[in-house]
Amino acid sequence: MAAFYLAVLLIALTPCGAVDDNVRFDCYPEDGATEQLCLDRGCAWEETQNPKAPKCFYWDPYGYRVEGNVQDTVLGSRATLRRLNTPARYANSADVDPVTLDYEMHTAKRLRLKFYDSNTQRFEVRDKMPHIPEATGKAPSPEYTVNITPPSPTTPFSLSVTRTATGTVLWDTSVGGFTFSDQFLQISTKLPSTYVYGFGEHERNNYRHNMDWRTWGMFTRDEAPGPPSDGVNKNLYGMHPFYLCVEDDGKAHGVLLLNSNAMEVVLQPTPAMTFRTIGGVLDFYMFLGDGPEDVVRQYTEFVGRPFMPPYWGLGFQLCKWGYGNLSVVRDVVKEMQDYGIPHDVQYGDIDYMERQMDFTIDPVNYQGLPEFVDQIRRDGMRYVIILDPAITTNETEPYAPYTNGTALDVWIKDGDDNSQPLIGKVWPYYPDVTVDPTQEWDYKVEHYNAYSVFPDYFHADIDQWWGNFIKDFYKTLKFDGLWIDMNEPTNFVHGSVKSCSNNKYDNPPYMPKILGPNIYSKTLCMNSVHGGTEHYNTHSLYGWSQAEPTQRALREVTGKRGIVFGRSTFPSAGHFEGHWLGDNTAKWDHLHKSIIGMLDFGLFGMPYVGADICGFWDDSTPELCHRWMQLGAFYPFSRNHNWEQGAPQHPTHWDGAIADAARDALQTRYTLLPYLYTLFYQAHTQGSTVVRSLMHEFIEDKLTWSIDKQFLWGAALLISPVLDQGAMDVNAYFPKGRWYNYYSVNSDHQGREVADAGQGRSLSLPCDMDCIPVHIRGGHVIPTQGHANTTVFSRRNTLGLIVALDEAGEASGSLFWDDGEDIDTIGSNSYRMITFRVSAMTLDITVESNGYTPDPELQYETIQVFGSPAMPSDVTVNGQNVASDNIVRKTADKVWHLEGLSLSMGENHKITWTIPDDTSGAEVSRARPLALVIAAIAVVLATVNGHFLS
Ligand SMILES: *[C@@H]1O[C@H](CO)[C@@H](O)[C@H](O)[C@H]1NC(C)=O
Ligand SMILES: *[C@@H]1O[C@H](CO)[C@@H](O)[C@H](O)[C@H]1NC(C)=O
Ligand SMILES: *[C@@H]1O[C@H](CO)[C@@H](O)[C@H](O)[C@H]1NC(C)=O
Ligand SMILES: *[C@@H]1O[C@H](CO)[C@@H](O)[C@H](O)[C@H]1NC(C)=O
Repeated sequence: MAAFYLAVLLIALTPCGAVDDNVRFDCYPEDGATEQLCLDRGCAWEETQNPKAPKCFYWDPYGYRVEGNVQDTVLGSRATLRRLNTPARYANSADVDPVTLDYEMHTAKRLRLKFYDSNTQRFEVRDKMPHIPEATGKAPSPEYTVNITPPSPTTPFSLSVTRTATGTVLWDTSVGGFTFSDQFLQISTKLPSTYVYGFGEHERNNYRHNMDWRTWGMFTRDEAPGPPSDGVNKNLYGMHPFYLCVEDDGKAHGVLLLNSNAMEVVLQPTPAMTFRTIGGVLDFYMFLGDGPEDVVRQYTEFVGRPFMPPYWGLGFQLCKWGYGNLSVVRDVVKEMQDYGIPHDVQYGDIDYMERQMDFTIDPVNYQGLPEFVDQIRRDGMRYVIILDPAITTNETEPYAPYTNGTALDVWIKDGDDNSQPLIGKVWPYYPDVTVDPTQEWDYKVEHYNAYSVFPDYFHADIDQWWGNFIKDFYKTLKFDGLWIDMNEPTNFVHGSVKSCSNNKYDNPPYMPKILGPNIYSKTLCMNSVHGGTEHYNTHSLYGWSQAEPTQRALREVTGKRGIVFGRSTFPSAGHFEGHWLGDNTAKWDHLHKSIIGMLDFGLFGMPYVGADICGFWDDSTPELCHRWMQLGAFYPFSRNHNWEQGAPQHPTHWDGAIADAARDALQTRYTLLPYLYTLFYQAHTQGSTVVRSLMHEFIEDKLTWSIDKQFLWGAALLISPVLDQGAMDVNAYFPKGRWYNYYSVNSDHQGREVADAGQGRSLSLPCDMDCIPVHIRGGHVIPTQGHANTTVFSRRNTLGLIVALDEAGEASGSLFWDDGEDIDTIGSNSYRMITFRVSAMTLDITVESNGYTPDPELQYETIQVFGSPAMPSDVTVNGQNVASDNIVRKTADKVWHLEGLSLSMGENHKITWTIPDDTSGAEVSRARPLALVIAAIAVVLATVNGHFLS
């Protein structure tokens, strides 16, 4: 022990004798640290130059030691940790003694480190997640090594995790401070690099974390994204205690703390990190990569792969809280149609309901809504409704959601008298109130908002209640998706209508850096009974627990995949639902932040994500909304939405320029939907990301590790949006490789290779108001389809392929196609999978799996080749020569097209071409007997529908 601390001391002392900030681990994280309080706690106190670094820090041996030998278990090994003989420092309660550490080797790349109290059952999130796979045995050849300090009466316990192949130490907890008491659990570790990503849900300025002493609280809360408030980085709707760390050599690993209690994580420049949670157990899962994309795959393999959205869920969606009445909605939908703007999904926010009560329709303002929904569904559109958890208790007429829920006893219970439900207030109004909209918020809450109960979605009978009401309401209104909001859960009175009693859950001894003033602010009392335990433990699981029964009911009643998306999420939510980034604001920096948010939720295994286009709070401006519609056309979940009193901001609201820009960008989106849908198939089956950080594809280029103003769709499409007011150009980074301009709007640019991208460089791209730069990466084949007003109609259009060649003249890609909405087309093999491979001037289109046939069958009509060394002198399609000027069209240098094809999507095809050989003057020959060539031309010309004359 002496040697250990001496070593720390020697490293830690700077020349003038002060203790380096980097070895300080905060021993007094509460407010109000003083030297005396610090010394009383047995820690060291010293001033520092950096006001963010702690003055009070661990110094002497503290915490636990290993007792007895580490024992073998079925999955790994077990160590017993005993308290060192030092006083407990937190929470005025004895620390747990002994603490058991289970180290489990789940797979070659996944391990678990679980600290718990083997004498007392504590809350474990793992028990609420039956779909998460259990490990069955020790992985035979793990790629990691875990070292635990040997048994000792005095040496403090610590452990390290090493990536065996490289020797990189991923975790090293020897920095001290390990604590396990009832309501204060803490562990600190050194990190192998400063490249840290993840943790949520927060608003951040950059995707990559700032390691200069930042604290991020996590606890689900109804809070709009925005800058820190009173020095606290706001904890938002969801909770995701998961981070990605990229090691200096480009290997990456991820770590999940599977714990749902209020917590904080502290990042410091050492680099190091501290977790502090106020309940449950310390249950860590580590995922070893190789690269970041592998980490996401391993993570989603564990928490559950993302659900497969229906094809229409990738169409454009439009919503506004407070349309006010159906005739306004009708007009908006009609305007969108008149302007020819693609529009798949229309929404009903809470104003479709009668006094904001679930499973009702406002009989005055939304009279005729069911017929309207039937009508737009016949036109190829879809309708999604919002549902909130809180159920009013104050109806004077029978209100079955309340009476049946009471009969089934599904409400969260008051912790002070658990024969009674906990009562709060949310949206539902009392019956017979006359609402004065000019009144202040507090007045309204007191006088208009009814007493409400909160369903416990963990309740065994939840399907009989929630599921049945969803199914019952479907008899009235044919919705296609469900939007579950307010499920942090939010409450307009703090705790309950009678506030909360003084107990250890509502007044915990340590409050992590989350918004307050109290832990129950804007939500339920923490001692209420929820999921068989205190809400204190299950609070952050509330929205998550609502997702699965909602998805189940939606699928049962519609018989289709549908979409569920929710505001409050937790690890594994992506398996059941998507997410929008909450109540953002119509301001410019929220364009950039929406990209960071999408990248974060990509890491969290929730690729179906997007922000409210044009902004939720405040009035959008024409320029902002114009640019936002262009960016939003590349959100996987693409929805324009704003608040009740916000000015209208649907794309047709202003002059024609915004409508035109929105239509252009959305038509590009719709053209690319076959590619986007295939990315979702890959996310669903392999756990890959959809919106992807450049780092995932170009890990060898360290510059990409910090890029968050551009993003990829999958591996092949680079989006570089304008994010600044007044900007008419974009500074875009092009990593090594060949990149081609996507657009055909201006045929001079279409398919043109980005000059000098070569080894990776930044370029300033001119970008007027019509423009959002999109580039295709050499080496990829992108399937496309003609756009239309909705996906129902676009799905019937002809297909195209964009072949973007790499340096070797090669490219590949794939296309997943099914009916777009059946529940399990993959499990039932009712889909078609096609691969595209180009090499040696041959494109092979191969139907790998053919369990689904569109009716009518689809055809490829165009094939565009980008990056050709020269124009082909000779092209054959399925062995037939088509090298006719009418079919092969050159549009720019190194770009040529085949047009007017009609190649069945259900069959294999081979396209070959010949490029004149410059050096010899001869052609690379694929000569075929002359008679066959003539016959082939005749056949092909007969099938091209005259398109080639265009
Ligand atoms: C619907 O709301 C709009 C805007 O508030 C109003 O002008 C219109 O009169 C209302 N129509 C009906 C039928 O209530
Ligand atoms: C979309 O276009 C088709 C025909 O192209 C038309 O039948 C349908 O009504 C349109 N739908 C909408 C929502 O405009
Ligand atoms: C609403 O219901 C609660 C019981 O849940 C009752 O205490 C309260 O008086 C009722 N308020 C009104 C205005 O009916
Ligand atoms: C509510 O309860 C009544 C009486 O038991 C029952 O008839 C009805 O089906 C229930 N409604 C739903 C949607 O479960």
